[in-house]
Amino acid sequence: MKRDHGLHINPLTDVVISCGQTEAFAASIFAVIDHGDEVLLFDPAYETYGPCISLAGGIPVYVPLDPPYWTFDVEKFKKSFTSRTKAVVLNSPHNPTGKVFTTGELEAIAEACRSRDCICITDEVYEYITFGIHNHVSISSLHGMQERTIITSSLSKTFSVTGLLCFANSTGWRIGWSCAPSNIASAIRNIHINITDSAPAPFQEAALTALRSSTEYFKSLRTSYEARRDNAVETLSRLGFQIQFRPQGSFFLFAELPESWLHSDVDFVRELIKKGGVAAVPGCGFFHNSSNNENKYYNRFVRFAFCKSDETLAAAAQRIRELEVIGDKGLLKKL
Ligand SMILES: Cc1ncc(COP(=O)(O)O)c(C=O)c1O
Repeated sequence: MKRDHGLHINPLTDVVISCGQTEAFAASIFAVIDHGDEVLLFDPAYETYGPCISLAGGIPVYVPLDPPYWTFDVEKFKKSFTSRTKAVVLNSPHNPTGKVFTTGELEAIAEACRSRDCICITDEVYEYITFGIHNHVSISSLHGMQERTIITSSLSKTFSVTGLLCFANSTGWRIGWSCAPSNIASAIRNIHINITDSAPAPFQEAALTALRSSTEYFKSLRTSYEARRDNAVETLSRLGFQIQFRPQGSFFLFAELPESWLHSDVDFVRELIKKGGVAAVPGCGFFHNSSNNENKYYNRFVRFAFCKSDETLAAAAQRIRELEVIGDKGLLKKL
């Protein structure tokens, strides 16, 4: 925290080690949200935030990120605050869009949190996966923010030990953390003790070694993902997607479906799996109002992940190319 963000954190009082960011986030929400408190979320969002806030008795309030660049209207954002707003959730680099929030955007969020006396709960799991000129800045390092920010992050993405639950089997090393002012960290620790008690000790030792990796490791993480990002953009462009927004961080590409498949994200993904054997995630899973169809973008996007080995990604690209050859008007029409 000191090296990357210039933050002074007391390891004994300001840190809670948990089972992945997922638990860090849940324990943080349960620690600070009372029944009826409102929590601002950017939409689309990683899918665990909304349910977790609701489970804690809070009310998620959504602020849209607008395509193609996933910017937000600062005035609309400010107007979303009410006397019940307790916290803002900020995930940058962002899943599913790959957006890295700009310093100007972070300043606007920080200013709103300071003036409304709100907490900012961050999800920084993609902090080391940023591309080109885009760098991760923790909002906690902005003026007056450390005292009102809960940082959550984990080993999962930086060290490729991410969790996946598949029926009775699950994977992942499940080490994450919250960093917060000591009074808030103490409340988070109380929740953590009551939901999982502790994170696995051998993996905490491994985490210590991992986090002390050389700067070369972090550099090569960026360059290898950037090359995979470029390949994914190229493959999907050939497929007929108009990629207006190249991911600036994370390992996702959120691609808008072309005209022929608009509003059919689930059908498209199903066909891609059945005919090509390549999996993606329908965008509607990330927009909060997918059931009542308020948001005109909710079923127009598909999320592709490029966090696989070069061999697997090359095999996926090859399968997609083969489908493309079969199609008389290109894969997207043919499917
Ligand atoms: C934005 C975001 N936060 C958190 C997680 C989960 O992190 P963890 O494995 O540390 O629980 C993911 C995994 O997909 C994610 O994309």
